[in-house]
Amino acid sequence: MEISKLIANRYSVRSYTSQLVEQSQILEILEAARLAPSACNYQPWYFVVLTEAENLNDFHEVYPRNWFREAPVCIVICSDHSQSWKRKPDGKDFADVDVAIAIDHLVLKATELGLGTCWICNFDVLLARKKLQLPAHIEPVAIVPIGYTNSVAPVKTRKSLSEIVRWEKFTGL
Ligand SMILES: Cc1cc2nc3c(=O)[nH]c(=O)nc-3n(C[C@H](O)[C@H](O)[C@H](O)COP(=O)(O)O)c2cc1C
Repeated sequence: MEISKLIANRYSVRSYTSQLVEQSQILEILEAARLAPSACNYQPWYFVVLTEAENLNDFHEVYPRNWFREAPVCIVICSDHSQSWKRKPDGKDFADVDVAIAIDHLVLKATELGLGTCWICNFDVLLARKKLQLPAHIEPVAIVPIGYTNSVAPVKTRKSLSEIVRWEKFTGL
């Protein structure tokens, strides 16, 4: 699928069928994330993949929504602050930026495979840390459930280009 179609077709899926996702599809999705660019190519990320029903059920507690429980696969994307690039002048840590790009690759690849996804960041971070046994320097940034859906894509509501683009200089606020 063309990238412009993928971008247009992707939406946050909050309803999943029980149809299983093939292991080969999960690997294709992870491969797309692996190829993402990152600052200095440090690749400061880990992908914790949950597919076992027992683990998915248990993990549901970190984001207790019925639709989240339905998805047959769940990937927890984590940043590794010990490996991320920090900009010298201000110390800014680019881990979140790197991880966000990898997640975007991941969700677009899933879209290409006909699968639905949803970024989830509003989860119980401490509980997720505990359940996944994450070391202190590994941060769970987002959870992405993956699965088939019968839901219909909503119309995208977005700001217009004129609201968000400034040409040459930042004017008009
Ligand atoms: C960083 C980030 C965090 C998000 N966290 C959640 C979340 O916790 N729960 C949820 O249902 N959707 C979450 N979303 C999905 C957004 O609500 C959604 O992307 C936005 O409303 C645009 O809709 P669309 O994805 O269907 O185009 C998140 C999206 C992003 C990018």
